[in-house]
Amino acid sequence: MTGITEIAPDVYWLGARHPELQVFDELFPTHNGSTYNAYLVRGRDKIALIDTVKGLFAEDYLAKVAALVPLNQIDLVVVNHTEPDHSGALEALLERNPNIEVYCTKPAENFLKQLYDIPMKTRVVAEGQEIDLGGKTLRFLLAPYLHWPDTMFTFLPEQQLLFSCDAFGAHFCADGLFDDEVPDFSSDFNGYFDAIMRPFKDKIREAVAKVEGLDIRLICPSHGPIRRRDPKTVIASYRNFAAPPPETGRKRALLLTLSPHGNTRKMAAAVRAGMESRGVEVVEKSMFGVSAGDIRDELERADALVVGTPTINRDAPPPVWQALSLVSTITPRGRIGAVFGSYGWSGEAVKLIEERLVGLKYTLAAPGLHYRFAPTEADIAACRGMGEQVAAALVGDK
Ligand code: FEO
Repeated sequence: MTGITEIAPDVYWLGARHPELQVFDELFPTHNGSTYNAYLVRGRDKIALIDTVKGLFAEDYLAKVAALVPLNQIDLVVVNHTEPDHSGALEALLERNPNIEVYCTKPAENFLKQLYDIPMKTRVVAEGQEIDLGGKTLRFLLAPYLHWPDTMFTFLPEQQLLFSCDAFGAHFCADGLFDDEVPDFSSDFNGYFDAIMRPFKDKIREAVAKVEGLDIRLICPSHGPIRRRDPKTVIASYRNFAAPPPETGRKRALLLTLSPHGNTRKMAAAVRAGMESRGVEVVEKSMFGVSAGDIRDELERADALVVGTPTINRDAPPPVWQALSLVSTITPRGRIGAVFGSYGWSGEAVKLIEERLVGLKYTLAAPGLHYRFAPTEADIAACRGMGEQVAAALVGDK
């Protein structure tokens, strides 16, 4: 049957191709479609499926499984991750064979119960637990938050295959199945890490440590090409992507401003001077026209985030909300915050942004400051005092 490839003796790819996909999960643009990779492992005694596919492709997937093995002879399915692009065919699979055992983590078991209203024989696995399929072993390596709490890897040591689910994947669909059969997809691989994995760098470092010492011949992710050209380099790239930001030995604040008439920026200069007077390194960026990547890079390096926002039509303007929406896409180094801004009529923005920072788990180092139109000398002095308070929260009173 077309659409099935034996990637190692008695190990098969039987995933789904989705070349026309333009936006993944209605969130992330995909420039070259994607694939939902799923696998079948045939041991002497047991037959296992590794993940399934998006529900849209469930019937095609079941037909592929059945072309290899009658569905009533499948013993178990490993759910490395429950997100529906990989578990979407599970319900249809279990309807055909309710005796299939579902191997997954504890969080995955909880999620499956909430995702699918169907009886399931779940088997919760522990770190390092193995199943012997008969000549083939499946070893489970927990990898929480790559990128959901439920995620794990499955390693097949006899053939040195790592089934890594989303990790080491890419939204990329081409005619070939292996990385040496397709055009360069490094930008898709890098963009995928940035969009999906970047918020969990500390967890990625832990997961990479579990697999970088293994002899791996193939990395079999759930999206994009199977990696056989240089698996160690693929793993090393995650080690590099997830490296902590460089230490400068100084506390660092990111000062984000938006200032239609220059008044908020005057306040910013005083806040900055207050921080710098206490030895804090300040990086200042306008929220107008700056790239999301620049803000994310600086947020990761910053111990404090100080926001200067005007109020327009009783709200903070869209670039301010846009900038703050990036916090959840990275791992901030520190979560000290402060907010200030000039306004003309009503001045709600400072309060709203303070609430947003608190919602993002920041601790406010100083009460918000908002002044009508141009700040007075006394206002400027208060702004400098805010900067000093932020610095005190970072480095203590000197
Ligand atoms: Fe590809 Fe997190 O699902």
